[in-house]
Amino acid sequence: MKPIRVAVIGCGFMGRTHANAHCQVNHFFPELEHHPVLQVAVAHPSEKEKLEKYAKTWGFAETSTDWKSVVARDDIDMIDVCVPNNLHAEIVIAAAKAGKIISCEKPLAMSVEQAIEMRDAVEASGVPHMISFNYRRVPAVSLAKQIIGEGRIGRPFHYRATYNQDYTISTKVPQGGAALWRLDAKVAGSGVTGDLLAHSIDTAEWLNGPIKRLCAHTEIFVKERMHIETGKMEPVTIDDAAMFMAIFENGSIGTFESTRYARGRKNYNTFEMNGEFGAFHFDLERPEYLQFFRYADPDTGKKVEDHLTGWQDILVTNSEHPYMSHYWVPGTMIGYEHTFINGLSDFLKSMEGGPAYEPSIRQATRTQAVCDAVVKSAKEERWVEISELLP
Ligand SMILES: NC(=O)c1ccc[n+]([C@@H]2O[C@H](COP(=O)([O-])OP(=O)(O)OC[C@H]3O[C@@H](n4cnc5c(N)ncnc54)[C@H](O)[C@@H]3O)[C@@H](O)[C@H]2O)c1
Repeated sequence: MKPIRVAVIGCGFMGRTHANAHCQVNHFFPELEHHPVLQVAVAHPSEKEKLEKYAKTWGFAETSTDWKSVVARDDIDMIDVCVPNNLHAEIVIAAAKAGKIISCEKPLAMSVEQAIEMRDAVEASGVPHMISFNYRRVPAVSLAKQIIGEGRIGRPFHYRATYNQDYTISTKVPQGGAALWRLDAKVAGSGVTGDLLAHSIDTAEWLNGPIKRLCAHTEIFVKERMHIETGKMEPVTIDDAAMFMAIFENGSIGTFESTRYARGRKNYNTFEMNGEFGAFHFDLERPEYLQFFRYADPDTGKKVEDHLTGWQDILVTNSEHPYMSHYWVPGTMIGYEHTFINGLSDFLKSMEGGPAYEPSIRQATRTQAVCDAVVKSAKEERWVEISELLP
């Protein structure tokens, strides 16, 4: 087995999911030739105590609070970027120049201009890289992709996505600092657009092809919040909620909605696609199911509908379903953390001669362009072509 010495930068939410994936990937995908080794855990100097605990919990050999010196080391093969969005570009570009294997969390960047710089640096260096849009690797979502590839949806008409949460409704939630950096535009870039809609956009373009143009509205419900770093009330400049209409290149039309003010919703990431021959619906709060509606035979286009036709709940746990042969027996579930394990296994396989890993930094740059188009369209109150941002 070939060891890959990994430095995970960031020991928060994503630092944990990534460390877990590095620990578990060879257990569930024993055919892999590569074996990640947790070499260095890195975090902000203000989190030294948390960093030590994290490193011990997951079994890292060392810790550091200086990512630059870690990227410069010859004995590190992979830089795994799990820090807030404003740090992605600097670290990814430095890692590319140092010839490291790169993993980077989403959203790729603070803006499409920054994403293009990152893309160019990574492509110039030719290093293997993965961008962590992990929801593609929910088996039910991968099954939706397979169903489309088999022609079971036929000509697509509608794509409908939501990604809703409710954790910022209280006016007392501050901006800035641990995890709540998401409410600070200087650190996050945008609000729900980069945080949540980026996932919906990545999934939509993967399943239904590129978005051509869109028209968006964004809202800031709470205009001022206390900033954790200054202790003062400061204007909120991220989008609390965003919605947009989209026209896809293939002629189908879509709606997207995202908010952190949907009382009752915790991680309500859903999408539905309706085509001539069939339709499907997915809801991340019931992740092991894909709902499918079959209307016509994909080969003949002939109607198969009869009096038993209706939406079926497919329990995506059989060994013939994507990724599931690597886990337990049919009818037993896997969960959120497995999406990261599945993604890492696909990435390592791509380094071992398997299919190219997606999304690449090129695709993630497109997703960034669509996110920027949402913000631009809302600001300028007009339809925006994606080609305006990414010719
Ligand atoms: N794929 C997903 O579903 C998903 C989910 C959550 C977050 N994310 C993304 O992952 C990234 C991290 O989010 P999170 O929720 O883990 O954040 P977090 O706030 O939980 O953790 C951030 C970490 O970054 C570290 N950090 C900050 N500044 C640093 C510096 N200068 N040097 C070294 N470390 C530094 C902090 O010490 C902390 O450990 C973000 O880009 C976010 O958008 C993706």
